[in-house]
Amino acid sequence: MEKLTVLGAGLMGHSIALTAAWAKIEVVLQGIDQEDLDRADKGILSKLSILHANGLITQEDVGIIRDRIHFSVSVESAVEHATFVIEAIPENLQLKQDYYKNLDRLCGKDVVLASNTSGLSPTAIARDMDHPNRMVVTHFWNPAHLMPLVEVVRGERTDDGTIARSMELLRQMNKKPIEVKKDIPGFVGNRLQYALFREAQHILEEGVATEEDIDQAVVYSIGRRLPITGPFMTADMGGLEVFDSISNYLFEDLSKEEKSLRTMRKHVDNGHYGQKNGQGFYKWTPELSERMSQLREKELIRYLIEDRKSDSD
Ligand SMILES: NC(=O)c1ccc[n+]([C@@H]2O[C@H](COP(=O)([O-])OP(=O)(O)OC[C@H]3O[C@@H](n4cnc5c(N)ncnc54)[C@H](O)[C@@H]3O)[C@@H](O)[C@H]2O)c1
Repeated sequence: MEKLTVLGAGLMGHSIALTAAWAKIEVVLQGIDQEDLDRADKGILSKLSILHANGLITQEDVGIIRDRIHFSVSVESAVEHATFVIEAIPENLQLKQDYYKNLDRLCGKDVVLASNTSGLSPTAIARDMDHPNRMVVTHFWNPAHLMPLVEVVRGERTDDGTIARSMELLRQMNKKPIEVKKDIPGFVGNRLQYALFREAQHILEEGVATEEDIDQAVVYSIGRRLPITGPFMTADMGGLEVFDSISNYLFEDLSKEEKSLRTMRKHVDNGHYGQKNGQGFYKWTPELSERMSQLREKELIRYLIEDRKSDSD
């Protein structure tokens, strides 16, 4: 069993540590100061109580899982006994490059150093390391304790052993890891998400339908199938000759915009950031905000319960 340390106790770090502890793995969680760790601890306890309320864990488990997480404000002591480190510090290339240069010196050369970067290149992050073979990206999705996918992304100098150990640990953490064999921007998940997002904005700007109706079209059509069949299985089940014929007339008409589209730019330039400040493509009243956050969390938990049932069958 790997000895796990998570560096960075923010939104992602605390829920990655919780995921490990929930899967019976002892974990050290490092934050920059006590306030950072207190916030992480509060987040962990609140998530555990929601898991309990939904029957995923018992009341007794809450304390047991919480006790598997050991808090530290020092990077040096957090990594001292680690065999596997997951880093979740802010998304800044220079910061991560300096951080990995330092970790490379602090950790024995067999320790895997995995970054939770959303989209920075593992090859670039490992640029100044003497042992870049043990550096890899393990990209968890938010909220990390409820979203099953983790993308394991190979940098140009990542070795096979590092990939194998990452896949193994993530499976032990009850995740569904996939291997991304090439270091490309957006990895796999975000490329697909943003292909859909670009086209959604394009048809909005063309006046084809409203934001609400485009969202409804996704939720009540492809969205209903996607949790069960991805694009390739969907195409196989629909008939490849049909998908081939549609691709031939439709692809040329789809958006090929190379930058963020103008409606989005206008929102951002006007300080409309979405749910977090009340205005985005939607007007976010406190009621809508509360309702959608709860609904999404409830559905993610429902899927997780289903996954666990089918994994144990
Ligand atoms: N937020 C998301 O939805 C999401 C999803 C997937 C991946 N990620 C990636 O995960 C990483 C962490 O993102 P987050 O949203 O948890 O960030 P965050 O700001 O919530 O937390 C970052 C944590 O890093 C530590 N930290 C802060 N400044 C630091 C510094 N200068 N040096 C070292 N440590 C520092 C602190 O513990 C802080 O809590 C980023 O690389 C981000 O791109 C984020």
